[in-house]
Amino acid sequence: MAVELSQVVPLGRSLEEYIKIFDLKAEELKLKILSLADGPASFNAELSAQGGQVLSVDPIYSFSAQEIKSRFEAILDNIIQQVKSTPQDWVWSYHQNPENLRKHRIQVMEKFSQDFEKRSHSGAYLAAELPHLDLKDSFDLALCSHFLFLYSDYFSLDFHLESIQEILKYAPELRIFPLLSLKGKISPYLEPVKKTLSQKGYTFKIKSVEYELQKGGHHMLLIRGPKFS
Ligand SMILES: C[S@@+](CC[C@H](N)C(=O)[O-])C[C@H]1O[C@@H](n2cnc3c(N)ncnc32)[C@H](O)[C@@H]1O
Repeated sequence: MAVELSQVVPLGRSLEEYIKIFDLKAEELKLKILSLADGPASFNAELSAQGGQVLSVDPIYSFSAQEIKSRFEAILDNIIQQVKSTPQDWVWSYHQNPENLRKHRIQVMEKFSQDFEKRSHSGAYLAAELPHLDLKDSFDLALCSHFLFLYSDYFSLDFHLESIQEILKYAPELRIFPLLSLKGKISPYLEPVKKTLSQKGYTFKIKSVEYELQKGGHHMLLIRGPKFS
């Protein structure tokens, strides 16, 4: 696997955060969900415990739970310090303050790592790297939290176009959040992605959601593939 754990920021979000981020309704939580770049989110652990069906995909799943946790512990203080030193960039409607953010991320890591230890060989977690997925199954809904668009400085427009088309081979709809890059501005790829893929029959909707941590980051993009638009 090309990914080096030392380059990854393994910070994960909870089921409750995913519900807000993607505006997931109770009936949508019963769908067969493909969750890309899912990292150490506890979305899969928590939803599966309630009977949900999720396949999480991320290159970090080639590492052990302990390796992922150690990397998380090594970077957490630095991330929280960066957040504290840029108060103008954050909205605290959900996490309340940086110390609670730290607490929430630790709780999520605990849930993820316990589940990953138990179920990493059960087919719930797949070590794979966009833009290529080689999946056997199809899904009702695909989600991508805090990866596409967010890392626009590190992944090219072509990477985004290829990844979105690849994901939508396996599901009729993909939701992406946030639409901001790490610099806190709308990703420079949003409009080119919409323009290029609209010409191929993909359709797009931007929805305002209840969750905001990065200031201005409260929109998700819904994309439907050409066969389903
Ligand atoms: C900030 S984390 C987001 C984790 C989770 N989606 C969440 O919102 O809580 C970004 C994730 O992207 C993953 N990632 C990096 N390169 C990737 C690639 N080429 N394909 C899929 N995931 C990748 C990293 O391993 C990391 O777990």
